[in-house]
Amino acid sequence: METVVSGIRPTGFLHLGNYFGALRNFIKMQNEANCFFFIADYHSLTTHPKASELNMHIKNVLVDYLASGLDPEKSTLYVQSDLPETAELYLLFNMLAYMGELQRVSSFKEKVRRHPDNVNAGLLTYPVLQAADILIHNADKVPVGKDQEQHLEMTRDFAQRFNHTYEIEYFKLPVAYNFGNELVKIPGLDGSTKMSKSDNEASCVYLSDDPETVRKKVMKAVTDSGPTEPNQEKPQAIENIFQLMKAVSAPETLQFFEEQYNLCQIRYGDMKKQLAVDMIAFTAPIYEKILELRSNDDYLRKVAKQGAEKARESAVKTVREVREIIGLRSL
Ligand code: TRP
Repeated sequence: METVVSGIRPTGFLHLGNYFGALRNFIKMQNEANCFFFIADYHSLTTHPKASELNMHIKNVLVDYLASGLDPEKSTLYVQSDLPETAELYLLFNMLAYMGELQRVSSFKEKVRRHPDNVNAGLLTYPVLQAADILIHNADKVPVGKDQEQHLEMTRDFAQRFNHTYEIEYFKLPVAYNFGNELVKIPGLDGSTKMSKSDNEASCVYLSDDPETVRKKVMKAVTDSGPTEPNQEKPQAIENIFQLMKAVSAPETLQFFEEQYNLCQIRYGDMKKQLAVDMIAFTAPIYEKILELRSNDDYLRKVAKQGAEKARESAVKTVREVREIIGLRSL
């Protein structure tokens, strides 16, 4: 059976972008692979160094995972820092990672540009830690969104470099993976091309938003005064509403509004009302489960503990073997 590994950083509540970009694939994969899904709290420290918020969001992500349909009996669900073996593998991979290649990573450059006051070494070596997460279970596949492609490429580079340096075919070269060929893109409600919590809270629909909040956010989504000619190309904000509808509504609904648009008869108020109804139909059952799980700390603790124990089995084995391959010994 193939091994699948992926993680999400606990920097906030999970939104529809996380769901369609990652979680939905996690849920499908848990039935057919040996899956490890974790909460990347070490990674969060590169940008969010305070533990208080982090702990809150670790719980929220675990709750969102479970409410969305991840099953702790099928997948191994754990918190990254409960697996300190990851930190040792990260240290060992750091010796194989070159400064120059790390400096060229686009997510690093982007963070330097946005936060020039916090260019810490953890940020630079972020892809090394990610490689450790993935290779510690010797993964075959990593379900992630398109933005992670470069990190995955580096994971393969480090794996290959390790194999080459120590002259052994030890690590597999894991690939980014998405079900189906069609990657649903989830844009923001504010006209931005990607739903992102760091850009604008109001542009995000969280799985944990109550139905009334979802409705209000959708109704406030950016639109314009409408097309002026038949079959006109859609401006970004309008394209976004259609994309969101594609994700959560029935194909006939989407088609109806496409036609209205092309005939210049579209009423965005009506379209948003329909989108809100369909989005709520999608989020409400998850929201209900979230409420239930939130008040069940004992259960959450049990899930995290059981997950960490299961994850450590393969992590301990990998680190032991890597130490042997490198030739490190404990006297
Ligand atoms: N970098 C990923 C993101 O921002 C999170 C992540 C950390 C991850 N470690 C991982 C994803 C290992 C997949 C596998 O989304």
